[in-house]
Amino acid sequence: MRIANTGETLREILNGHDSKRVLVPTMGALHEGHLVLMRSARNVAGPRGMVIVSIFVNPIQFDRAADLEAYPKPLEEDLAACEKEGVDVVFAPQTDAMYFADRSVTVTESLLSAGLCGATRPGHFDGVCTVVLKLFLISGCNAAVFGEKDFQQLAIIRRMIRDLDVPVKIIECPTVREHDGLAMSSRNVRLTSAQRADAPRIQRSLLAAAQCNDIPQILEIARAGIEASPLTCIDYLLLVDAETLQPATTLKRQAVLAVAVFYGDVRLIDHVII
Ligand code: PAF
Repeated sequence: MRIANTGETLREILNGHDSKRVLVPTMGALHEGHLVLMRSARNVAGPRGMVIVSIFVNPIQFDRAADLEAYPKPLEEDLAACEKEGVDVVFAPQTDAMYFADRSVTVTESLLSAGLCGATRPGHFDGVCTVVLKLFLISGCNAAVFGEKDFQQLAIIRRMIRDLDVPVKIIECPTVREHDGLAMSSRNVRLTSAQRADAPRIQRSLLAAAQCNDIPQILEIARAGIEASPLTCIDYLLLVDAETLQPATTLKRQAVLAVAVFYGDVRLIDHVII
Protein backbone atom coordinates (compact mmCIF):
# COMPACT_ATOMS: atom_id res chain seq x y z
CA MET A 1 0.00 0.00 0.00
CA ARG A 2 1.29 3.45 -0.94
CA ILE A 3 0.64 6.64 1.04
CA ALA A 4 0.46 10.09 -0.53
CA ASN A 5 0.39 13.32 1.46
CA THR A 6 0.03 15.71 -1.47
CA GLY A 7 -1.98 15.75 -4.66
CA GLU A 8 1.24 15.75 -6.64
CA THR A 9 2.46 12.53 -4.99
CA LEU A 10 -0.93 10.90 -5.48
CA ARG A 11 -0.88 11.76 -9.20
CA GLU A 12 2.68 10.38 -9.49
CA ILE A 13 1.65 7.11 -7.84
CA LEU A 14 -1.43 6.77 -10.06
CA ASN A 15 0.34 7.84 -13.22
CA GLY A 16 0.46 4.99 -15.73
CA HIS A 17 -2.30 3.01 -14.02
CA ASP A 18 -4.99 2.96 -16.65
CA SER A 19 -7.18 0.57 -14.68
CA LYS A 20 -10.34 1.69 -12.93
CA ARG A 21 -9.84 4.06 -9.96
CA VAL A 22 -12.36 3.93 -7.16
CA LEU A 23 -12.22 6.48 -4.36
CA VAL A 24 -13.50 6.08 -0.80
CA PRO A 25 -13.52 9.58 0.71
CA THR A 26 -13.29 9.53 4.53
CA MET A 27 -12.35 11.72 7.44
CA GLY A 28 -10.57 8.80 9.11
CA ALA A 29 -11.39 7.27 12.50
CA LEU A 30 -12.32 4.28 10.39
CA HIS A 31 -14.90 1.78 11.60
CA GLU A 32 -16.66 -1.26 10.14
CA GLY A 33 -18.90 1.04 8.07
CA HIS A 34 -15.83 2.41 6.26
CA LEU A 35 -14.47 -1.11 5.72
CA VAL A 36 -17.73 -2.01 3.97
CA LEU A 37 -17.21 1.01 1.67
CA MET A 38 -13.67 -0.20 0.89
CA ARG A 39 -14.92 -3.71 0.07
CA SER A 40 -17.54 -2.27 -2.21
CA ALA A 41 -14.82 -0.14 -3.87
CA ARG A 42 -12.75 -3.28 -4.48
CA ASN A 43 -15.76 -5.03 -6.03
CA VAL A 44 -16.20 -2.15 -8.44
CA ALA A 45 -12.48 -1.69 -9.16
CA GLY A 46 -11.81 -5.40 -9.64
CA PRO A 47 -8.54 -7.06 -8.66
CA ARG A 48 -6.52 -4.98 -11.16
CA GLY A 49 -8.18 -1.66 -10.36
CA MET A 50 -6.98 0.94 -7.86
CA VAL A 51 -8.81 1.45 -4.57
CA ILE A 52 -7.91 4.86 -3.16
CA VAL A 53 -8.96 5.89 0.36
CA SER A 54 -8.69 9.54 1.31
CA ILE A 55 -8.28 10.39 5.00
CA PHE A 56 -8.75 14.10 5.54
CA VAL A 57 -10.55 15.85 8.38
CA ASN A 58 -11.85 18.65 6.22
CA PRO A 59 -11.82 21.83 8.34
CA ILE A 60 -14.11 23.82 6.03
CA GLN A 61 -17.07 21.50 6.61
CA PHE A 62 -17.05 21.97 10.40
CA ASP A 63 -19.36 24.65 11.72
CA ARG A 64 -18.09 24.32 15.31
CA ALA A 65 -14.38 24.69 16.10
CA ALA A 66 -14.77 22.44 19.16
CA ASP A 67 -16.19 19.64 16.99
CA LEU A 68 -13.21 19.86 14.62
CA GLU A 69 -10.81 19.90 17.57
CA ALA A 70 -12.44 16.85 19.19
CA TYR A 71 -12.79 14.85 15.97
CA PRO A 72 -10.78 11.61 16.47
CA LYS A 73 -7.64 11.35 14.30
CA PRO A 74 -6.07 7.89 14.85
CA LEU A 75 -3.99 7.91 11.64
CA GLU A 76 -1.75 4.91 12.46
CA GLU A 77 -4.75 2.65 13.19
CA ASP A 78 -6.50 3.94 10.08
CA LEU A 79 -3.51 3.13 7.89
CA ALA A 80 -3.32 -0.38 9.38
CA ALA A 81 -7.04 -0.90 8.68
CA CYS A 82 -6.58 0.21 5.04
CA GLU A 83 -3.59 -2.08 4.61
CA LYS A 84 -5.58 -5.00 5.98
CA GLU A 85 -8.42 -4.29 3.54
CA GLY A 86 -6.04 -4.38 0.58
CA VAL A 87 -6.35 -0.68 -0.26
CA ASP A 88 -3.87 0.35 -2.98
CA VAL A 89 -3.29 3.99 -2.05
CA VAL A 90 -4.15 6.17 0.95
CA PHE A 91 -4.31 9.90 0.33
CA ALA A 92 -3.78 11.64 3.69
CA PRO A 93 -2.96 15.31 3.16
CA GLN A 94 -2.52 18.03 5.76
CA THR A 95 -4.78 21.07 5.46
CA ASP A 96 -2.14 23.21 3.73
CA ALA A 97 -1.74 20.56 1.04
CA MET A 98 -5.45 20.86 0.25
CA TYR A 99 -6.20 24.56 0.67
CA PHE A 100 -4.36 27.77 -0.15
CA ALA A 101 -4.49 30.26 2.72
CA ASP A 102 -6.26 32.72 0.38
CA ARG A 103 -8.56 30.19 -1.32
CA SER A 104 -11.60 31.97 -2.72
CA VAL A 105 -13.57 29.38 -4.70
CA THR A 106 -16.24 27.25 -3.05
CA VAL A 107 -18.78 24.84 -4.52
CA THR A 108 -22.29 25.64 -3.32
CA GLU A 109 -25.40 23.52 -3.76
CA SER A 110 -28.29 25.78 -2.92
CA LEU A 111 -31.48 23.72 -2.92
CA LEU A 112 -31.04 20.36 -1.22
CA SER A 113 -28.62 21.89 1.31
CA ALA A 114 -31.15 24.35 2.66
CA GLY A 115 -32.82 22.10 5.25
CA LEU A 116 -31.91 19.29 7.67
CA CYS A 117 -28.17 19.38 8.51
CA GLY A 118 -27.69 22.37 6.17
CA ALA A 119 -30.06 24.50 8.26
CA THR A 120 -28.32 23.84 11.57
CA ARG A 121 -24.74 23.59 10.23
CA PRO A 122 -24.21 26.70 8.11
CA GLY A 123 -21.57 26.24 5.39
CA HIS A 124 -21.27 22.50 6.08
CA PHE A 125 -22.33 21.31 2.62
CA ASP A 126 -20.29 23.99 0.82
CA GLY A 127 -17.30 22.47 2.62
CA VAL A 128 -18.35 18.93 1.69
CA CYS A 129 -18.98 19.73 -2.01
CA THR A 130 -15.73 21.66 -2.29
CA VAL A 131 -13.58 18.93 -0.78
CA VAL A 132 -15.34 16.08 -2.59
CA LEU A 133 -14.92 17.77 -5.97
CA LYS A 134 -11.25 18.44 -5.17
CA LEU A 135 -10.75 14.79 -4.17
CA PHE A 136 -12.39 13.63 -7.41
CA LEU A 137 -10.13 15.92 -9.46
CA ILE A 138 -6.93 15.08 -7.57
CA SER A 139 -7.51 11.32 -7.73
CA GLY A 140 -9.00 11.26 -11.24
CA CYS A 141 -11.35 8.56 -9.95
CA ASN A 142 -13.99 6.94 -12.17
CA ALA A 143 -16.20 6.00 -9.24
CA ALA A 144 -16.56 6.92 -5.57
CA VAL A 145 -18.27 5.12 -2.71
CA PHE A 146 -20.37 6.84 -0.03
CA GLY A 147 -22.40 5.61 2.92
CA GLU A 148 -26.16 5.96 2.74
CA LYS A 149 -26.24 7.05 6.40
CA ASP A 150 -25.44 10.62 5.30
CA PHE A 151 -28.39 10.61 2.92
CA GLN A 152 -28.51 14.40 2.54
CA GLN A 153 -24.79 14.49 1.73
CA LEU A 154 -25.33 11.75 -0.84
CA ALA A 155 -28.25 13.59 -2.48
CA ILE A 156 -26.19 16.80 -2.66
CA ILE A 157 -23.14 15.05 -4.13
CA ARG A 158 -25.35 13.38 -6.75
CA ARG A 159 -26.79 16.80 -7.60
CA MET A 160 -23.28 18.30 -7.88
CA ILE A 161 -22.24 15.46 -10.23
CA ARG A 162 -25.32 16.01 -12.34
CA ASP A 163 -25.20 19.79 -12.49
CA LEU A 164 -21.43 20.08 -13.06
CA ASP A 165 -21.12 17.07 -15.42
CA VAL A 166 -18.57 15.40 -13.16
CA PRO A 167 -17.60 12.06 -14.77
CA VAL A 168 -17.66 10.03 -11.55
CA LYS A 169 -20.08 7.19 -10.82
CA ILE A 170 -21.49 7.36 -7.30
CA ILE A 171 -21.86 4.07 -5.45
CA GLU A 172 -24.03 3.96 -2.37
CA CYS A 173 -23.60 1.52 0.55
CA PRO A 174 -26.23 0.80 3.22
CA THR A 175 -25.77 2.07 6.76
CA VAL A 176 -23.79 -0.30 8.96
CA ARG A 177 -25.08 -0.62 12.52
CA GLU A 178 -23.78 -1.82 15.86
CA HIS A 179 -25.42 -4.98 17.25
CA ASP A 180 -27.87 -2.78 19.20
CA GLY A 181 -28.93 -0.74 16.16
CA LEU A 182 -26.84 2.41 16.67
CA ALA A 183 -25.62 3.64 13.28
CA MET A 184 -21.83 3.40 13.10
CA SER A 185 -20.13 6.78 13.21
CA SER A 186 -16.65 8.04 13.95
CA ARG A 187 -18.28 10.23 16.60
CA ASN A 188 -19.60 7.22 18.60
CA VAL A 189 -16.25 6.84 20.38
CA ARG A 190 -16.78 10.26 21.96
CA LEU A 191 -19.96 9.13 23.78
CA THR A 192 -19.72 8.43 27.51
CA SER A 193 -20.74 4.90 28.50
CA ALA A 194 -24.16 6.18 29.67
CA GLN A 195 -24.70 8.05 26.39
CA ARG A 196 -23.53 5.05 24.36
CA ALA A 197 -25.96 2.76 26.23
CA ASP A 198 -28.79 5.22 25.59
CA ALA A 199 -28.08 6.01 21.92
CA PRO A 200 -29.80 2.96 20.31
CA ARG A 201 -33.06 4.69 21.25
CA ILE A 202 -32.54 6.89 18.21
CA GLN A 203 -33.07 4.07 15.73
CA ARG A 204 -35.69 2.38 17.95
CA SER A 205 -37.75 5.58 18.07
CA LEU A 206 -37.50 6.14 14.31
CA LEU A 207 -38.55 2.56 13.59
CA ALA A 208 -41.50 2.78 16.00
CA ALA A 209 -42.62 6.02 14.37
CA ALA A 210 -42.30 4.51 10.90
CA GLN A 211 -45.12 2.08 11.76
CA CYS A 212 -47.68 4.92 11.63
CA ASN A 213 -49.29 6.35 8.55
CA ASP A 214 -50.03 9.84 9.75
CA ILE A 215 -47.37 12.56 9.44
CA PRO A 216 -47.96 14.44 12.75
CA GLN A 217 -48.14 11.12 14.61
CA ILE A 218 -44.92 9.88 13.04
CA LEU A 219 -43.11 12.99 14.20
CA GLU A 220 -44.68 12.87 17.65
CA ILE A 221 -43.78 9.22 18.29
CA ALA A 222 -40.19 9.71 17.15
CA ARG A 223 -39.79 12.86 19.26
CA ALA A 224 -41.34 11.27 22.37
CA GLY A 225 -39.07 8.21 22.07
CA ILE A 226 -35.91 10.27 21.75
CA GLU A 227 -36.84 12.89 24.33
CA ALA A 228 -37.80 10.23 26.87
CA SER A 229 -34.10 10.25 27.73
CA PRO A 230 -32.70 13.21 29.70
CA LEU A 231 -29.40 12.70 27.84
CA THR A 232 -30.72 13.71 24.41
CA CYS A 233 -31.26 17.09 22.82
CA ILE A 234 -32.85 17.04 19.36
CA ASP A 235 -31.17 19.32 16.83
CA TYR A 236 -33.84 18.59 14.20
CA LEU A 237 -36.44 15.93 13.55
CA LEU A 238 -38.08 16.12 10.15
CA LEU A 239 -40.05 14.03 7.71
CA VAL A 240 -38.92 15.04 4.24
CA ASP A 241 -39.69 14.01 0.68
CA ALA A 242 -36.97 11.56 -0.34
CA GLU A 243 -36.32 13.36 -3.61
CA THR A 244 -36.72 17.08 -2.89
CA LEU A 245 -35.75 16.91 0.82
CA GLN A 246 -38.58 19.38 1.46
CA PRO A 247 -40.96 18.68 4.38
CA ALA A 248 -43.23 15.80 3.35
CA THR A 249 -46.90 16.65 2.91
CA THR A 250 -48.02 13.18 1.83
CA LEU A 251 -47.01 9.59 2.48
CA LYS A 252 -47.91 8.62 -1.08
CA ARG A 253 -44.33 9.45 -2.09
CA GLN A 254 -41.23 8.00 -0.46
CA ALA A 255 -40.28 10.04 2.60
CA VAL A 256 -37.34 10.08 4.98
CA LEU A 257 -37.71 10.50 8.72
CA ALA A 258 -34.42 12.12 9.67
CA VAL A 259 -33.00 13.22 12.96
CA ALA A 260 -29.90 14.85 14.43
CA VAL A 261 -29.49 14.38 18.17
CA PHE A 262 -26.96 15.85 20.56
CA TYR A 263 -25.59 13.74 23.38
CA GLY A 264 -23.65 16.46 25.21
CA ASP A 265 -21.63 18.00 22.39
CA VAL A 266 -21.61 14.83 20.27
CA ARG A 267 -24.05 15.15 17.39
CA LEU A 268 -25.41 11.93 15.87
CA ILE A 269 -27.60 11.57 12.78
CA ASP A 270 -29.86 8.76 11.64
CA HIS A 271 -32.88 8.23 9.42
CA VAL A 272 -35.43 5.71 8.21
CA ILE A 273 -37.15 5.55 4.85
CA ILE A 274 -40.93 5.60 5.05
O1 PAF B 1 -18.79 11.74 4.96
C1 PAF B 1 -17.64 12.13 5.23
O2 PAF B 1 -16.88 11.46 5.93
C2 PAF B 1 -17.18 13.48 4.72
O3 PAF B 1 -18.23 14.39 4.67
C3 PAF B 1 -16.47 13.39 3.36
C4 PAF B 1 -17.42 12.89 2.27
C5 PAF B 1 -15.28 12.47 3.46
C6 PAF B 1 -15.99 14.78 2.93
O4 PAF B 1 -15.08 15.29 3.84
